[in-house]
Amino acid sequence: MVEAGHAPGQVGPVRKAVRESLIKAGVLKAHAQDVPVGLYGTERKDLLMRLIGGALDYIAPLALLGHADEELLALVATPNRKAMLVVDRRIVAEDDNVCQLTLAAPDGTKLRPWHAGAHIDIFLPSGRVRQYSLCGDPRREREYRIAVRRIPDGGGGSVEAHTLRVGDLVEISQPRNAFMMPLPGSASAKKKLRFVAGGIGITPILPMARLADRLCLDWSMLYTGRHPSSLPFLDEVAAFGPRARVRTDDEHGLPSPADLLDGVDGDTAVYACGPPPMIETIRRGIGHEVELHFERFSPPPVVNGVAFEAVLGRSGEVVEVGADESALAAIRRVKPNVGYSCQQGFCGTCVQRVLDGAVDHRDSTLTDLQREQGQMLVCVSRSKDGGRLTFDL
Ligand code: FES
Repeated sequence: MVEAGHAPGQVGPVRKAVRESLIKAGVLKAHAQDVPVGLYGTERKDLLMRLIGGALDYIAPLALLGHADEELLALVATPNRKAMLVVDRRIVAEDDNVCQLTLAAPDGTKLRPWHAGAHIDIFLPSGRVRQYSLCGDPRREREYRIAVRRIPDGGGGSVEAHTLRVGDLVEISQPRNAFMMPLPGSASAKKKLRFVAGGIGITPILPMARLADRLCLDWSMLYTGRHPSSLPFLDEVAAFGPRARVRTDDEHGLPSPADLLDGVDGDTAVYACGPPPMIETIRRGIGHEVELHFERFSPPPVVNGVAFEAVLGRSGEVVEVGADESALAAIRRVKPNVGYSCQQGFCGTCVQRVLDGAVDHRDSTLTDLQREQGQMLVCVSRSKDGGRLTFDL
């Protein structure tokens, strides 16, 4: 983890070294909040070239001489994680609550390719792990772009992500894709695409729409939200022209299935990302012949839940899990630092070991062996029949 042991906002040794090198190389000013320019210019004096000539010149000799900071060595040695440099930070919604971060490898190398719909995990300095869709252009091979809506009363991840500044290092996973877009005329039998985005749900939809537009496919988009000031990337959406419409609740009220799906027929594949009520509205209104792909950015509602007791085995504390809440939500009331990320049963971050009790596994991630070993994804799975579950917590 980047800067383990440092509170958000504190400067760890690696970040300090890189920041100082960037200042030395003239990329950042001393207060280090400035956005560097010309990242993708072809001249030698862009950020990447300066980075190679500045930050790495500073850090690499330390490593070679055997004086590398343990933190740096941990970053290099950690498998499946990649330390990235924040090279651009900007606010992309009028209400100031959505921040776009552009990340690049510290040595400026090409990054692993990705396709529209992909996301990355961000390992925040506090240890929180959060997932964000890539919203940039996959053809820009040396950067990943994400956008984060700040949720002050959430789990703290988005607030912490907003503290990241240009010059900070942060670890990420390689891109993964749980929201693939098979293309009409190739992997999909459908002829048209309909994109529906709700608020920050625009992030995976943007690369999809750009691709559909570039390939001259038959596509349309509805972008919804409470108020225009809460909607990020309005300028990029407007650049698509009349194919992309914006509809806000303050002007038109909550959208009905007909609003969200106008023009959708059996030849259409629908791609939707947004809050659970929007997704449920689409699911209610869509015909069975329509291909629906969706991604939520908050937990799905609990279906057929039964209340049960979760026992924290190490302290003996008993936590009541309500019929309509997840075990994760209940456990976090008494152990707020317990790890989680997707809250939808696919990332594995919230895994806990069950010492006693029968589990109703509701994920499709854990293997049979992992389940036999007592593992449980507490964001979605529950007790079988309402019996007590004792966790190794
Ligand atoms: S938080 Fe991702 S699987 Fe539970």
